[in-house]
Amino acid sequence: MNIAYHAESGIFKLDTEKTSYIIALADKERFIGHAYYGKKISDTDVTYLLRTGENPFVPSKNNRDRSSFFDTFPMEFPGCNTGDYRESAIEVIDAQGHNAVELIYKEHRIMRGKPGLPGLPATFGGEEECMTLEIDAEDKCLGMEATLRYSIFADSDIVARSVSVKNCSEKSFFLTRIMSASVDMDQEDYKLLTLHGSWARERHMDYREIGYGKQSVGSTKGESSHQEHPFMALVSKKATQESGNVYGFHFVYSGNFLAQVEKNQFDSLRIQIGIHPKNFCYEVKPGECFEAPEAILVYSSEGLGGMTRTLHDLYRNHLIRSPYKDKKRPILINNWEATYFQFDTEKLLSIAREAKKAGIEMLVMDDGWFGYRNDDNTSLGDWTVNEKKLQGGLKYLVDEVNKIGLKFGIWFEPEMISPDSELYRAHPDWAIAIDGRTPCRSRNQFVLDLTRREVLEYVYNAVEKILHSANIEYVKWDMNRQLTDLGSVYLGKENQGELCHRYVLAVYELQERLTKEFPNLLLENCSGGGARFDPGMLYYSPQIWCSDDTDAIERLLIQEGTALIYPLSTMGAHVSDCPNHTVGRSTPFSTRGNVALAGTFGYELDITKIPEEDRSRIPEQVAMYHKYNDLIRNGDYYRIASYRQNHLYDCYEVVSKDKKEALITYVQVLNRPNYHSRIIKPAGLNPQMRYRNEETGELLFGDTLMNAGITIQNMWGDFQSKLIHLTEV
Ligand code: DGJ
Repeated sequence: MNIAYHAESGIFKLDTEKTSYIIALADKERFIGHAYYGKKISDTDVTYLLRTGENPFVPSKNNRDRSSFFDTFPMEFPGCNTGDYRESAIEVIDAQGHNAVELIYKEHRIMRGKPGLPGLPATFGGEEECMTLEIDAEDKCLGMEATLRYSIFADSDIVARSVSVKNCSEKSFFLTRIMSASVDMDQEDYKLLTLHGSWARERHMDYREIGYGKQSVGSTKGESSHQEHPFMALVSKKATQESGNVYGFHFVYSGNFLAQVEKNQFDSLRIQIGIHPKNFCYEVKPGECFEAPEAILVYSSEGLGGMTRTLHDLYRNHLIRSPYKDKKRPILINNWEATYFQFDTEKLLSIAREAKKAGIEMLVMDDGWFGYRNDDNTSLGDWTVNEKKLQGGLKYLVDEVNKIGLKFGIWFEPEMISPDSELYRAHPDWAIAIDGRTPCRSRNQFVLDLTRREVLEYVYNAVEKILHSANIEYVKWDMNRQLTDLGSVYLGKENQGELCHRYVLAVYELQERLTKEFPNLLLENCSGGGARFDPGMLYYSPQIWCSDDTDAIERLLIQEGTALIYPLSTMGAHVSDCPNHTVGRSTPFSTRGNVALAGTFGYELDITKIPEEDRSRIPEQVAMYHKYNDLIRNGDYYRIASYRQNHLYDCYEVVSKDKKEALITYVQVLNRPNYHSRIIKPAGLNPQMRYRNEETGELLFGDTLMNAGITIQNMWGDFQSKLIHLTEV
């Protein structure tokens, strides 16, 4: 890793082990140009890549617009309204009502380590692990100073970018657009990969051609959303799982986002990722600074798999802070799909007793324990225990569960308020709403205006009080509706456009406080399933509920898309009952276990009621979890085959860092009549190591396994699966 500045050529060269990122100060005016990002290169002075001398790109001052100079010049952080008609990285409304920004290099600093971003999640690393370049740029006319920040890591091929914008003038300006990263490059043969979804169908991989104009994914729902994901990749058409060029862009943020690619008249691409400009208008007062969240840029010449493993390692080593990140998580049983709202102390204890016998380690009490919440229409905000359900109180229940030998976890939805609640009756103006307009209800609830200090304090104190009242070791932090009717009584009329971002900052503040005050608490984020599965949340919680869809076959696609960019150690995955509550499908208990094993693993069923045949299999699955979880949590992930593409079977593999062990999960989704065995080819093994296939006892070298493959016999029936464990001999 190195960051160097070459004064004669005005070049900043950022080198990671396998990549180079080059910024060039162009022209006497010191535009901050983007010269190169990709595979590591030896030369430093690559200013020719800016093409400033080429016809028609003549940067003569008088002829710039006609010659499309600004429209072609690759900018690090393009401003607006001064000749570049492509999308801007920054836009403002200044005191005169104008919108023009042109950021010119002023000075820079190169330092070891990586500064944190106040109030925001961000990747981190010490002085030996990271280096940071800060370029200060200014627009003298506006009195604006922007600091463009670039951090690189010794052990990771990524560039982490963020921006802060300071108002050095005497008057406020309003930011109406601020991207965290903007990258210009030529279109070679890339197609666009995004993650698309819906409730119970989150993060399915979606490819499309890149046409002229703009294509984007985004969320304006106040959270990352089920539908689109703060991630975008350009994938070479020639790329495979393990070779070819891939550029990934990922946003460390949990609110409205935009990820966009624009192809222009000269076949160049501008990729941007940042806060969605819709509903965003943020006042920066004189002397104040606005911090934009972090964006992660990853380049892989080793296909999608290379990008995946880079991001997995980055998040495991430099984003997740929880002490649980390197630990096996307790196997939990959650009562949501077991009882929904109909439970009491005895029911929960009966589940705990049976769970203990099977080797399960924690009981999680989900929604419905507070106020008078017997369905999803009431009581959010009233965080007092419903003693009609929990006879003897919460502490009694937790103590009894602990006596049985299980840990105890609890569900909250802290950001919400039910219109039918004591809290709403006392404080109707605490809900986000527009004065005079009946706000939209979703799941019969409103969202609390967390930008108000007293609301935030109320929420924090309510959660804190419950956590202090008993030995609670896990919290599932849920969020079951999106933001609408964006109005805050607290924010003035000039500042309503700050609501969504301030809301996200408030959620971060709450979770920061919670994890500081309860450092050993295992926090799992959740949002109606997986609508808030994003890197921002991983900074606070080491795991996130992946989807409300627990069907093993649906999970193949959801977990494939999720594992594309997130480590398996972060994916909440449970074995549930059949027919599955979301799709009505019945799959073998063993397949449900094998698929859930790829995540944090747990159960979501009434263990007292499931067939004895299934119950008797749980100890076996528990043993498998203990046997494989270190490998699954820490290993390298390889995608071998995808049911998304072949419509028949799915296969992925985790290889230990020392390559001495690998676990392959194979799911035969549909059986095929009259079919002989299938050969699958593992990846990532050491060619010279000899491995033992635990099931067959076969001894084969890594090169044989990877090139000749392993045969998988056809299994009888649909939805069958098997695990193949290879260990070095
Ligand atoms: C949505 C979550 O994803 C579910 O697991 C469950 O906790 C419900 N909310 C409870 O309301």
